[in-house]
Amino acid sequence: MRTRPLKVALLGCGVVGSEVARIMTTHADDLAARIGAPVELAGVAVRRPSKVREGIDPSLITTDATALVKRGDIDVVVEVIGGIEPARTLITTAFEYGASVVSANKALLAQDGAALHAAAEANDKDLYYEAAVAGAIPLIRPLRESLAGDKVNRVLGIVNGTTNFILDKMDSTGAGYQEALDEATALGYAEADPTADIEGFDAAAKAAILAGIAFHTRVRLDDVYREGMTEVTAADFASAKNMGCTIKLLAICERAEDGASVTARVHPAMIPLTHPLASVRGAYNAVFVESDASGQLMFYGPGAGGSPTASAVLGDLVAVCRNRLSGATGPGESAYAALTVSPMGDVVTRYHISLDVADKPGVLAQVATVFAEHGVSIDTVRQQGKDGEASLVVVTHRASDAALTGTVEALRKLDTVRGVASIMRVEGE
Ligand SMILES: NC(=O)c1ccc[n+]([C@@H]2O[C@H](COP(=O)([O-])OP(=O)(O)OC[C@H]3O[C@@H](n4cnc5c(N)ncnc54)[C@H](OP(=O)(O)O)[C@@H]3O)[C@@H](O)[C@H]2O)c1
Repeated sequence: MRTRPLKVALLGCGVVGSEVARIMTTHADDLAARIGAPVELAGVAVRRPSKVREGIDPSLITTDATALVKRGDIDVVVEVIGGIEPARTLITTAFEYGASVVSANKALLAQDGAALHAAAEANDKDLYYEAAVAGAIPLIRPLRESLAGDKVNRVLGIVNGTTNFILDKMDSTGAGYQEALDEATALGYAEADPTADIEGFDAAAKAAILAGIAFHTRVRLDDVYREGMTEVTAADFASAKNMGCTIKLLAICERAEDGASVTARVHPAMIPLTHPLASVRGAYNAVFVESDASGQLMFYGPGAGGSPTASAVLGDLVAVCRNRLSGATGPGESAYAALTVSPMGDVVTRYHISLDVADKPGVLAQVATVFAEHGVSIDTVRQQGKDGEASLVVVTHRASDAALTGTVEALRKLDTVRGVASIMRVEGE
């Protein structure tokens, strides 16, 4: 074993960073044995230097992250600050000054992954980010390495624990959205400002990263269609139950049937109770991967939290340190396929549409005609009437999102349609 330690600069010492530092200290001997050299925490950059940080030598703390990455003797920079800046500049500076980088920063990777990979490659360094998607769950490495010889066709996952906790509560207790969100906040599963989670931004960033790796194609955050889950109601869960389904906020990355294009999207969807993702409860994450040779694979586990996320960071740290010792680098960006990323209108799936209509003869025929005119074939229709009003629940066969949008626009123009109560995609069949 080499006795000269590999030096690690830790940028950020919050929920994740403090756990990274703790595991580096408590598992130091094991890590050294697995890497082939000791790893030494050479500095810890934070915003508030006076905050007490248990188990960390105060002399390592600095507020000057730039000076730390520019020291010149750092082997690996671990970026767990989050956000776009200063994280982006610190990562590119780290490469220029000779370090490899491990990051957990999904927002940055989804927005600027290509440029960061290019900077790593230009400096012959590693950029690893297993922790950026689904916390502790090994997903990036299986897609990037274990499935490198296969052809992935679909990645379907629950990649946000907060939203899964809320939807699971609504499903299991009949609670409304606000009540379930309040409970998630009280239990620490939702942040004070939950926008990034409930509006699907966090899941969309993860979908961009997963789609890029799965399809060997650059997929940016802007390419991902996104719908949040704030409109999901207890009535939607009741409808889902009627169909033998539940509702999950899903990240779905798909290769089109002709193989020439891909799509990436995040939205609430009904999935059959028989689908493995339906039984993912609480704040857990799970990702279902379908590929040509392997068939169906499921990855399941805690998708966030300091210690689980630190596990993924440490795994990357070991890999990057091993590469460093052998003078090699691991796999970089693979975007050679350069497939077209198609808009949401091209996505083909099934739909559950709930309409409020006048309860009089001929309405059903009128509605059915609109679906037929737009080439959307109906699978089932259920009608419930009361006091001159009725609700009509239509479940379609597979159709494009563009055709469905056209159908709904035309339905809204019918005098007999009082309103479109909900539109939910049906996935996982
Ligand atoms: N938390 C999770 O469960 C989780 C899961 C997966 C991925 N991630 C990702 O991990 C990253 C970190 O998340 P976190 O939850 O650990 O965040 P956090 O608790 O807010 O910690 C952020 C850390 O960065 C430090 N910091 C902020 N601005 C800085 C600056 N300009 N210079 C130096 N240090 C700065 C903060 O310093 P102070 O301590 O002084 O405030 C704090 O230590 C994010 O990219 C996040 O998306 C988190």
